[in-house]
Amino acid sequence: MNHVPVAIIGAGPAGLTLAHLLHLQGIESIVFESRTRQAVEETVRAGILEQGTLNLMRETGVGERMEREADHDEAIDIAINGDNIRIPLTELTGHRVAIYPQHEYLKDFIAKRIEDGGELLFETTVDSVENYEGDGLAQLTYTDVTGTTHQLTADYVIAADGSNSPSRQLVTADGGIRARHEYPYAWFGVLVEAPKTQKELIYATHPEGFALISTRTDTVQRYYLQCDPNDTVDMWSDDRIWEQLHLRADSPGITVSEGRIFDKAVLRFRSAVTEPMQKGRLFLAGDAAHTVPPTGAKGLNLAVADVSVLAPGLVRALKRKDTDLLNNYSKLAIPRIWKAQHFSYWMSSMLHAVPGEDHFATQRRFAELRSVLESEAGQRYLAEQYVGRDLPRFEV
Ligand code: DHB
Repeated sequence: MNHVPVAIIGAGPAGLTLAHLLHLQGIESIVFESRTRQAVEETVRAGILEQGTLNLMRETGVGERMEREADHDEAIDIAINGDNIRIPLTELTGHRVAIYPQHEYLKDFIAKRIEDGGELLFETTVDSVENYEGDGLAQLTYTDVTGTTHQLTADYVIAADGSNSPSRQLVTADGGIRARHEYPYAWFGVLVEAPKTQKELIYATHPEGFALISTRTDTVQRYYLQCDPNDTVDMWSDDRIWEQLHLRADSPGITVSEGRIFDKAVLRFRSAVTEPMQKGRLFLAGDAAHTVPPTGAKGLNLAVADVSVLAPGLVRALKRKDTDLLNNYSKLAIPRIWKAQHFSYWMSSMLHAVPGEDHFATQRRFAELRSVLESEAGQRYLAEQYVGRDLPRFEV
């Protein structure tokens, strides 16, 4: 039977970043991805990279295109019922964020993986993971693109296969916790052929709900509107989208720029955290372990933070038989995950209208936002959370 030190299920941000970090330390891995390369490279996702993620890309030789093409922003705007307040992120924290969509991040890591000669199997499903508890090696069964089934042993298996991870229940069975929170709203996301409304993002709130004016390129923009979780794409005509975007996000001197809408989708809103994120030789990383709502775009950055603990843990275990860091993975990763949950929840709750909310609830929400934004300490707190903390660093 073939053997690999680390088997990684999922070619998303967690899986591909981990494979790259291991490769730099001379540790071989195989990445299994059930979707096609094209699907991975084209699925539309959120677009903010925190400074820690930017630094990791730069320091590990994957940052060149990002440096060239990403928009590096030094501020965001928050518009409360047409009253625009600027948060100078860089002045407050010394850091910028990059607008660089997740699929661009993935393209760079896929290209690097292929250039490095690492194994990355698309359209390949992992059918079972066994013997991950106790001594000996874990065993994987997988079916490749031709429909052929194979078996493989691995020292460690990482499930980085997204929020519907089939492996998660192996980790949570007897004793694990899956904490969840549902939100009474969702996002309606559109891609638009239009010039930028302004360079920086606008997070807008209004008695009718939230809108986000984000950017992509000089000619394509990304907008989101709070919608009902049960809404479908056909319920949002172009006219309704423009009416709601202008209502919620225009402010004196700023009019949301219009153009042809060429992509519409409803995005789910939920929080979940799995504790612990390890059982024996099986580990969860990224969305397989935790999901955050999109406000603040922490998902990719959290996945990168997970593997910043997991990679050195695996390197020490495989090179030096020192498993202390690896076995402390959950303990080290989870506090950051809960802080990101809190930030995403808090921003969401201030910016979204609970369906049917009354005048009291709307005005209290606006007052909470104003209280934060009218205080230098409040602005700094928000800015620090938004740009994100440095990634954890461990010697190997
Ligand atoms: C984007 C998404 C977010 O959730 C966010 O907070 C900012 C930007 C985006 O897709 O551009």
